[in-house]
Amino acid sequence: MVSCNIYCSSRELSNQRSKMAAFTSWPLFFLIFGLVISSSASAASTRPRALVSPIMKDSITLQYVTVVHQRTPSVPVNLVVDLGGRYLWVDCETRYTSYTYHPARCRSSLCSLAGSNSCGDCFSSPRPGCNNDTCGVFPDNPFTRTATSGELAVDVLSLPSTDGSNPSTQVTYPSFLFSCAPTFLTRGLAAGATGVAGLGRTRVAPPSQLAAKFSFRRRFALCLPSTPGNAGVLFFGPGPYRFLPNIDASQSLLYTPLLTNPVSTATTSSPGEPSYEYFIGVTAIKVGDKAVSFDKGLLKIDGKTGSGGTKISTTASFTALQTTIYRAVTGAVSTALAKVTRAASVAPFNLCYEASGFSSTRVGPGVPAIDLVLQSDQVYWRIFGANSMVEAKQGVLCLAFVDAGRNPKTSIVVGGYQLENNLLEFDLDYSRLGFSSTLLFRQTTCSNFNFTSSA
Ligand SMILES: *[C@@H]1O[C@H](CO)[C@@H](O)[C@H](O)[C@H]1NC(C)=O
Ligand SMILES: *[C@@H]1O[C@H](CO)[C@@H](O)[C@H](O)[C@H]1NC(C)=O
Repeated sequence: MVSCNIYCSSRELSNQRSKMAAFTSWPLFFLIFGLVISSSASAASTRPRALVSPIMKDSITLQYVTVVHQRTPSVPVNLVVDLGGRYLWVDCETRYTSYTYHPARCRSSLCSLAGSNSCGDCFSSPRPGCNNDTCGVFPDNPFTRTATSGELAVDVLSLPSTDGSNPSTQVTYPSFLFSCAPTFLTRGLAAGATGVAGLGRTRVAPPSQLAAKFSFRRRFALCLPSTPGNAGVLFFGPGPYRFLPNIDASQSLLYTPLLTNPVSTATTSSPGEPSYEYFIGVTAIKVGDKAVSFDKGLLKIDGKTGSGGTKISTTASFTALQTTIYRAVTGAVSTALAKVTRAASVAPFNLCYEASGFSSTRVGPGVPAIDLVLQSDQVYWRIFGANSMVEAKQGVLCLAFVDAGRNPKTSIVVGGYQLENNLLEFDLDYSRLGFSSTLLFRQTTCSNFNFTSSA
């Protein structure tokens, strides 16, 4: 069933890897890759400024799902967004038909680009995902924490271009590199999703591949919707990022450095590989302008183990805090809300209130703001009621943070609910994150991108 490819042993792999590293220089890498791409490129259309795709929130799993067009003939493919994922992978075992599918041959530049030095055959009839003499990678499912081997491949991918205000003509990438996966790996994904769009800091994740192909800055912006049924938006490339009524959310962003965790946080990794997830340097947390006290050591990334620190995740539904941080924050919130009538806990949340006890403001229920303080006291990510309180059941609002336990790998995982209706720009060239805080203050939302095509 699963691993139709047979891979070299890990010893052979690491030998090959060190040899590869010794003689492959970066410029050569790109030169080869560029040739491969351009040889199959169709007549170049005008270069897009940026690309765009919608993001839906799945009401059952709370996952965020985007759509790309892939293959020949082209079909829409729904993919769960994984900000920390290594590359794009799709189920090639079920209903994958395409005239333009090509597996990556062993030792080709495509394999090197994806960091794969494995090589294998497939003992079954040939099909996408099962070919001889191909290199493989390890696609993983962040929800089930399952990884398996999958054939590396290229196929046509297309996305609408954008001027930042509307989608426009579809642009086509003839040889987009991705990983195939067996059908079982899609277990746990939102209904209709047949893969994962990994947006991590690798050369093969869509943000870098698309930027290299279309020569735009290596940045992308994520704006998650808060309600199923209203699409949010994902931009590849630089702003403007405009929302109705004509608000450019790329203006007025605050910036904080993206930090490198030197130790991989992935399900599978090779020794010495850094994490390709997005870490930021939270230095303190304030509730209603008052600093919350806990061991600040938890906020540092341990260079040896990769533990600690703060990362941003679209696969965690709610922000997860290490137990002592969680207790400190919930303690501070409950003190600040002492006058509001408590309600019984609704799992996985502990601190819940009668919804009727809150005033309603433009930025959600009237509660003290929670600030993630970053590189200085002046730079903080302010979380208002719309992102800090969730209606866990009818008439009950709960603090939308969860307890990650005593020893989570990462002390703070900022999850999807806290990201909704915030625009986040990941700038890989400058290694920084631009964040807007809630767009509700600016009288718009992530669901106000005008998806009517201007083409
Ligand atoms: C791979 O090669 C083996 C041995 O020649 C053959 O039996 C098998 O069918 C081939 N698989 C594919 C997918 O072509
Ligand atoms: C959305 O974009 C279309 C195409 O440019 C335009 O005709 C329409 O007026 C826009 N909608 C709004 C509400 O501005």
